[in-house]
Amino acid sequence: MSAGRPEHTAPVTGTPVTAPPETASPGTMPGVPTPQAPPAPPVVRFDGVTKIYANGYVAIKDVTFTVEDTPEKMEFVTILGPSGSGKSTILRLIAGLAPQFPATRGIVHVGGRPVAGPGADRGMVFQDYTSFDNRTVLENVAFGLECRGVSEELRFELARDWIAKVGLDVTRDADKYPHQLSGGMRQRVAIARTLILKPRIVLMDEPFGALDPRTRLNMQDLLVSLAKEAQATVFFVTHSIEEAVFLGDRTFIVSSAPGTILQQLRVPPPDEPARAMQRRPEFMEVVHSIRETMNTLESSTRGGDQ
Ligand SMILES: Nc1ncnc2c1ncn2[C@@H]1O[C@H](COP(=O)(O)OP(=O)(O)OP(=O)(O)O)[C@@H](O)[C@H]1O
Ligand SMILES: [Mg+2]
Repeated sequence: MSAGRPEHTAPVTGTPVTAPPETASPGTMPGVPTPQAPPAPPVVRFDGVTKIYANGYVAIKDVTFTVEDTPEKMEFVTILGPSGSGKSTILRLIAGLAPQFPATRGIVHVGGRPVAGPGADRGMVFQDYTSFDNRTVLENVAFGLECRGVSEELRFELARDWIAKVGLDVTRDADKYPHQLSGGMRQRVAIARTLILKPRIVLMDEPFGALDPRTRLNMQDLLVSLAKEAQATVFFVTHSIEEAVFLGDRTFIVSSAPGTILQQLRVPPPDEPARAMQRRPEFMEVVHSIRETMNTLESSTRGGDQ
């Protein structure tokens, strides 16, 4: 899927993010006030967010970050961190899903408003394949549109488009049931089910964690092209540093419990297929340096996942 990608040869540097990108200001004339549209609110903003579960466990503490709304370039944010550091908690707080939602302290804003619960502007893809067992691929992909009252003809037409976009074969696969699909195929269905609803934000919690290495690289390439087309901001949790560096425009490293965002790194976006890019020496250097950081974090929580 690399054919349409712009040429981009910047080295993979893993630059720490120190400040949000400046908003472009239009040209001004001396003495003439320039009307300026108010800047769009950030897509997602965490302001000192702490989550303490009912049993008193502090999962994340004072998490603060901003992902700006830049219509010309939707950000792909990847999230790395030791097991139990609160990555899923962060994602589910954005999704507005209990019991992670609501936060105990601080505010999670989406599109400039405090999150009040789940919404159509956010779609989630989980690690375990969350299709309905008693529905075919076509019915699973069309499900969200059915809930929105879209006619059968239109929703099946759109579902067929999406089945093809995620690399499944409409003729061969549309009438299959989930148990007749491989893990990779099921995750393609899950992605189609989410993206067909055109969410502004896509939340992905280790979606490729259960796939074999080859399928995983193929899925990464697919996701790069779909994320561009979907015009969505993506938050993607993974335990694979290679995956995080490859897919991300920005990578968050979450510290061990209670989770805080320890580092934010800008990583150049993917400009060639996963298999090729992940062999580049400068890519491997960034992966190595993140791995060192993660090893330190992992050893500080050794003694058992929490
Ligand atoms: N409902 C809950 N009640 C109490 N503790 C919880 C609850 N959900 C999660 N936790 C705890 O909060 C911490 C963070 O959990 P979370 O699922 O966010 O971690 P994670 O970074 O996604 O981990 P993993 O990489 O293993 O998926 C963990 O110690 C977990 O046991
Ligand atoms: Mg998790």
